[in-house]
Amino acid sequence: MATAARPRAGDRVLDVGCGTGYLSRILAPVVTTSGRVAGIDPSPAMIDYATGHAPGNCTYVQGEDENLPFPDDSFDLVISSLAVHHIPTDARPEALRQMFRVLRPCGRLLIAEFRSPANPLARHLIGALSGPAMQHDPRDLLGIMIPDAGFQVESEGDLPHLLYYVRATRP
Ligand SMILES: C[S@@+](CC[C@H](N)C(=O)[O-])C[C@H]1O[C@@H](n2cnc3c(N)ncnc32)[C@H](O)[C@@H]1O
Repeated sequence: MATAARPRAGDRVLDVGCGTGYLSRILAPVVTTSGRVAGIDPSPAMIDYATGHAPGNCTYVQGEDENLPFPDDSFDLVISSLAVHHIPTDARPEALRQMFRVLRPCGRLLIAEFRSPANPLARHLIGALSGPAMQHDPRDLLGIMIPDAGFQVESEGDLPHLLYYVRATRP
């Protein structure tokens, strides 16, 4: 996921639904000290953990994607891993519009979501273990929301370990 995000030295990155900050900690050394990574998550416990383990160029704030507390055009790269399906369905279009707003023109977006395994037995087992939250098809979940928010979709497809990604840019 970090590789697929194509981070560059100096990038200002936003990790939406950052959880414990796992992904943002991988990106932090790649963007170097000339860049920075911000993470946002509604869970105070996640933000406490991420803040307690943050490299010098990472900061974390509590909040929701559908109401991002950042100025327009303030990031080069927005990433989100396994978080969109947690956002209430009716708030998702606004969540995508907020990602668009905080990205600078030509800024990049990478969203990854869970995809069920192709093997029917494995799919059944994961469905039974994870419950309805993981039963979505990522193509339906991400589908038209990303272009509807104004993004230009560049590529999409499978990533290893049951992830589906969409990469897009803000024109
Ligand atoms: C499965 S975790 C993924 C965490 C992290 N991105 C990762 O891949 O390890 C989903 C995260 O989405 C967060 N979340 C739930 N609702 C959200 C919202 N409205 N906006 C942003 N994040 C949200 C949850 O608090 C949780 O930390």
